[in-house]
Amino acid sequence: MQTIKPLTAAQLPDIVSIEQQAAFVPWSLALFESCLAADYFNFVLWDKDKLCGYYLAQQVLDEASLFNIVVAPDEQGKGYGRILLQHMLQQAKQRHCQQVWLEVRAGNTAAIALYQSAGFELSGRRKNYYQSSAGADDALVMRFQLSVAPE
Ligand SMILES: CC(C)(COP(=O)(O)OP(=O)(O)OC[C@H]1O[C@@H](n2cnc3c(N)ncnc32)[C@H](O)[C@@H]1OP(=O)(O)O)[C@@H](O)C(=O)NCCC(=O)NCCS
Repeated sequence: MQTIKPLTAAQLPDIVSIEQQAAFVPWSLALFESCLAADYFNFVLWDKDKLCGYYLAQQVLDEASLFNIVVAPDEQGKGYGRILLQHMLQQAKQRHCQQVWLEVRAGNTAAIALYQSAGFELSGRRKNYYQSSAGADDALVMRFQLSVAPE
């Protein structure tokens, strides 16, 4: 049975460990700590007492940004990424956001497939935005329209 609960500071060591296993360019502990602020909404997915995945998002006025979404490597492919993404979109809606933005590495086919199947649309591209030991990669900017703004 899966549950989704707000992320707390006490969970950050476990999150950083998953991040290092799963992410192409892992976030640092300091970066996660900087997201424990009032304008963020960050959640963790548990399967019983196992921390399986998480997302971090920020709201600014009527827009939300999904900054990070990760499922532990040994828990991937079970639908948890989709559950987390749907939860994020629901949270953004409850907060009266009009749209959700995210950036994804152009080579991250799994994440792009997830976002597209959820209804995100390509909105722009930043050339060579991601630099790593494996080389440079473009960033795709994607947008999900939650509601149409009144004219
Ligand atoms: C992207 C990620 C969160 C998906 O999580 P997941 O739990 O494995 O995904 P799900 O099982 O919920 O699958 C949902 C959809 O994602 C896509 N997907 C997932 N894994 C995929 C893969 N290996 N190849 C292609 N598409 C894939 C599919 O569209 C899938 O839908 P389907 O099962 O109906 O085909 C996970 O791969 C991950 O943590 N990756 C590393 C971190 C990362 O890159 N995060 C995104 C940062 S922008």
